[in-house]
Amino acid sequence: MPSGSGSERTNTKHPTLRFWLGSIHFAADAVLVAFVYYIVRDFLKDGNWKITPYLLNKAVANAAFLLIGLSMLLASLGRFRRIAPNRLVFKKYLGVVGFGLAALHALTSHLALRAKFPWPAWTRQNWETALLGFAAFALFAAMAAVSNRQATELMGGAAWRRFLSAAGYLGALLVIVHASWLKWPSWLNWVKTFDPWLPSLSLPMVLFGLAVLAARLAVRLSGTEK
Ligand code: HEM
Repeated sequence: MPSGSGSERTNTKHPTLRFWLGSIHFAADAVLVAFVYYIVRDFLKDGNWKITPYLLNKAVANAAFLLIGLSMLLASLGRFRRIAPNRLVFKKYLGVVGFGLAALHALTSHLALRAKFPWPAWTRQNWETALLGFAAFALFAAMAAVSNRQATELMGGAAWRRFLSAAGYLGALLVIVHASWLKWPSWLNWVKTFDPWLPSLSLPMVLFGLAVLAARLAVRLSGTEK
């Protein structure tokens, strides 16, 4: 709960609801922008406009990682400079909504896109990357499960923060490898041909993920970690 001024508090009757709605709104915008990006990219590739669950799943996966990464970046930036409490509090809501999108991506991949990623054959064939995805998903699920006051009190503030930090950054690293493993051939092809001129969104997203990890490392090296 943010510690805003008196007038701020009276202006917002249900600040928690406001944070949830703000994060869900941001997530919906991110999915929409990514979806349109993939539709345009696909059109540039083969000249056909296609609106498919396959492209939507890519958009959801990238938006999930964007929200989780932003949540972690807020936590790191908060150590270096003062961020208004009502902005910093978004790190929890962005993280949990990002996890919801990650769950949707995992379920869609296997339930709605059986033709592309048949279960369990796809998992058997791509067991390394599937395992990385599952492990990241399990870590994010554990983080979402302890993102409440009862868990903080039960674990103790310091242990709770250490757990969230370690699980979050390990999860982000696993997603980076998960996406890179799957998309490497597509990235290589893009670097060689620039066809289409828009890269797969997974490429800038993985670079963003690396920046999130670098910010975390900077916090560690600067000794500002609590
Ligand atoms: C049970 C867990 C998971 C499964 C089964 C899974 C499955 C997949 C599959 C099948 C793809 C290939 C999609 C394609 O080429 O169109 C993919 C790509 C991807 N996944 Fe996952 N995934 C899981 C977890 C996660 C998590 C937790 C995240 C991040 C929060 C994530 C982020 C991504 C990203 C960014 C891509 C690249 C999408 C693109 O632009 O093509 N995945 N995943």
